[in-house]
Formats: sequence, C-alpha cells, structure tokens
Amino acid sequence: MNATLTPIHTSPSPAFRPSSLAFAPVLNDIEESDRVFARTLAEYRTPFASLIEHLKHYRGKRLRPALLLLTAKACGGVKPAHHILAAAVEMIHTATLVHDDVLDEAETRRHVRTVNAEWGNKISILLGDMLFTHAFHLTSRVDRRACEIIGDATNRVCAGELRQVCERGNLHLTEEIYDSIIDGKTAALTECCGRLGALYAGASEEVANRMASFGRNLGMAFQVADDLLDSTGDEGKTGKTLGTDIEQQKLTLPLIHCLGKLPANAADDLRTALKVGGPDAGMAALAAMERTGSIAFARRRADEYIRKAKQDLEVLPPSECRSILETIAEWSTRRDK
Ligand code: IPE
Ligand code: IPE
Ligand code: MG
Ligand code: MG
Repeated sequence: MNATLTPIHTSPSPAFRPSSLAFAPVLNDIEESDRVFARTLAEYRTPFASLIEHLKHYRGKRLRPALLLLTAKACGGVKPAHHILAAAVEMIHTATLVHDDVLDEAETRRHVRTVNAEWGNKISILLGDMLFTHAFHLTSRVDRRACEIIGDATNRVCAGELRQVCERGNLHLTEEIYDSIIDGKTAALTECCGRLGALYAGASEEVANRMASFGRNLGMAFQVADDLLDSTGDEGKTGKTLGTDIEQQKLTLPLIHCLGKLPANAADDLRTALKVGGPDAGMAALAAMERTGSIAFARRRADEYIRKAKQDLEVLPPSECRSILETIAEWSTRRDK
C-alpha cells in the first residue's frame, strides 16, 4: 500500500445507518445504486485500499438517490438507467462534500473522520476529482441528455460553492446573493434528481419540470435548515463538524436577517465580533439571532419552500411514493441530522 494513503488517525465511529423506513418502496433500488457506486470504484481497491475502504463507512442518508428513485417510481417505474443515475448523483454529492470539508476545514462528516482530516487536503482534492469524473463516465452509459442534465447541475453546484468562498468575509451579504448561492450549491442537484427520476420513467416534459421544481424547492429548504443546524444543531446527531459558517465568516439566512433587524450600532458591534472570531462570536451571533426572531424567520422561509414543493407534487397522481416524497419534504425542515 502507498504510504501516503495510510490514515493519519483511525475512524472510531461506526458507519451512519439511515432509517430505511421512509425509503421502503425503493430500498432495493437504493441498494442497487450503492452497488453501481461501489463497482465503479472497485478498480482502485488495490492501489488505494484504505481510502476506498474508508468510503464504505462514508455513506450518508442517500437523500438524492431516494428522491430520484421515488420520483421514478411515482412517475411510472424504476428502470436500469435510474440505478446508474442515482449512483452518479450520489457520487457528485460525495465529491462536493469531500471538497467542501477541505474548504470548511471540517474534521467530522457522516459520523467519521473527514477525508481531509485522515489523509490531508491533497488527497481530498484528488479523490473529489476522481468522484466527479467517474460520475460523468458513468452517466455516459445512459445518454447525452443525462450527461447534459447532470453536467448543468454540477456546473451550478460548483459555481455556488465558488461564490460562497468569494463572498466569505462579506458581512453585508444580501438575502438575494445567499439565495443564489444555495440555489447553486444544494438545490441544483436535488432539482436534477427530480428531473431525471421523472424523465427516465417516461414522464412528459411538463411533469419533469414540476418534479424538478419540487427538487429545487426541497433543496432550498434543506439548505436553509442545514444552515440553522450549523448554529443550533448537535454534532452528535448531525455527525458533522458544526459552527464552520460563522467561523469562516460565511453569512447565512438567519444571520443576514438578524444584521438587517438590529439597530445599526448593534449590527456593527456584531460584525466586529464576527471578524474577531473565536467561540464568543458564535455565542454572540446566536443570542442576537434569537433576540431578532431570525431563527424563526429562517424556519418560516424553509416552510414556505416546502409549501411550494408540496404544490409541485400535485402534478403526480396519488401514490405511496408521492406520499413519501411529501413526508421527506416535511422532514427536511424539521430534521436534526
Ligand atoms: C450535506 O448533505 C450537504 C448539504 C447540502 C447541506 P446531506 O445532509 O444530504 O449529506 P449526507 O449525504 O446525508 O451525508
Ligand atoms: C453544503 O454546504 C455543501 C455543498 C452543497 C457542497 P455546507 O458547507 O453548509 O454543508 P455541510 O454543512 O458542510 O454539510
Ligand atoms: Mg461544509
Ligand atoms: Mg452546513
């Protein structure tokens, strides 16, 4: 084994196992897409054994494969192409997380050590790149349209992450820019899941557009909820490093709202505290956000996206999978992990 790939620390935590209940009708399909994912990376087992082994424990909630497959089933049925597409979107998602943890200097993800904490930034960048390229290679097995849809979504994800890094330290960030950042970095991929699930089940363009809109609205709500968890959540439950948004001076919705509501001098004091950083900054921000009702404001915003997502679902005939998609949408804003 290559010495540079020996873990710096071993991972003490067990792999995170999502509750399988909500995804029951497509559980076998999720497992099939997991197998496609694993087979794609199998050729690297020999040279990079410990890294590929780590990915086995580095499995999240499979929200995006579940969205894609439940949509497919609700639109007429899961086809072999869906398993490939579900694996590809999960691979893109995983690549973005591997890179995101470098950007955020995070140490824990999915209840285990991040790739950067175990192997450093260089290996994380290359592993992320490898996951991106394999995702597109995999998608080319389906057809050109799938490559275009996944390519467009990935372009938006990368642009969203890039914009966020560029806006780091901008303590006057507007809600409009925040919305465009999360639309890219998170909602583009969930939108793509809705579209692909519907299209490859034979749905019309109109239905596919509505399911794409469902995925987008869900993704927006999911990221607003994630940003709330970054300030108010429990690392034991989320299984990932929290507090990095304020640490990295990345303004998210509740803080943007709070800075807009505070009297000008109090807002400037808070900006100064954020610039100084340290644990006091997080505490000061949380106290201010509670005082200005900004946590509740962000929750209402997330609920509003979910109300729209549920309207989008009305394009589908009633079915078990449609009900589960509705439950997932409601869960996305109330979640604690
Ligand atoms: C984390 O997504 C990144 C965000 C968009 C907030 P998930 O919470 O779906 O991550 P995993 O895949 O379950 O780890
Ligand atoms: C989401 O941003 C990351 C991507 C969509 C790539 P965050 O930085 O908020 O995600 P977490 O909190 O680390 O999962
Ligand atoms: Mg992060
Ligand atoms: Mg976050």
